[in-house]
Amino acid sequence: MLKLTLQHSIRTLDNQLLFPPGTLLTEETLDAVIYSHRAYSYRTCPLLLYGSVKEDCLNFFSTPPYETIFSDKKPINDLLNLLETVHLSIPVLESLDYFKQHDFHTYSHILMVFALSTLLAEDLIPDYQECIQLSATGPTHDIGKICVPLPILKKATPLTKTERGFIEHHTAAGYVLLSYYYKGIQNLACGVALSHHERRDGSGYPRGIMLKDPIVEIIAVSDIYDALIKPRPYRPTAYDNRTALEEITEMAEQNKIGWDVVKVLIAHNRKSKPYYREIRISAEKRGIPPSYNVYGIIAEEEKKDSKD
Ligand SMILES: [Fe+2]
Ligand SMILES: [Fe+2]
Repeated sequence: MLKLTLQHSIRTLDNQLLFPPGTLLTEETLDAVIYSHRAYSYRTCPLLLYGSVKEDCLNFFSTPPYETIFSDKKPINDLLNLLETVHLSIPVLESLDYFKQHDFHTYSHILMVFALSTLLAEDLIPDYQECIQLSATGPTHDIGKICVPLPILKKATPLTKTERGFIEHHTAAGYVLLSYYYKGIQNLACGVALSHHERRDGSGYPRGIMLKDPIVEIIAVSDIYDALIKPRPYRPTAYDNRTALEEITEMAEQNKIGWDVVKVLIAHNRKSKPYYREIRISAEKRGIPPSYNVYGIIAEEEKKDSKD
């Protein structure tokens, strides 16, 4: 049973207020908003045919370390065929334009989580229809970031607790926005948006529940990996690939994420493309994380001017 107090407002890209701050988000409050919107219908469009998405994905595939992951021609053609079956509704696609214009990092991130999670799912989820459903959740997992002010999203110095709360708000915001556009919470994408920062040991957010769903976990691992191997505002240097994989292995050792999806990711990172169940993972840690990284450091709240 969902029960979450919203710390911040949730608005659509065209600035329609769905929930003000302080709302207790429950299935009933969400149903009421979805019901008020029931008459709207949206056109859909194949994601890969939208804007420059296909061209951008192909460019990202050829950038290290993805050039190794996506190096096998035949499986990549199969992957592209599968990606081409994903259709999204227009307001959801418009969020891509927003990120492409205002926060290119998030744009490339959502496209690569889309592609990488679909590739990993092919080994872990044998059901083709389920794979397509999972695939459609990758490009929408961070849609709630449209509700996070851009200066916070792109801040290069430590966040205050309040700013961190804004970042974490993207999970609930994504859940509400997708439930609103899909007219119900049943679409897999809603649950993925809400829970892709949860962890197996309950140490994640927004609810601190135990991550159990294998589909959400595939998105979560793709999300972590893509974040590590790219520069971020709070960490201008990316993790090198070896160190990124060691970080992810350590998360599996700590039971934050599962081993199978980590092994599939590592298998795809090897040129020989071994079967994931046959690979051995070394416990040795030889990587060196980037020296400047303010992720997780909490800054003092800025003092309000006493004259206010
Ligand atoms: Fe996220
Ligand atoms: Fe993400």
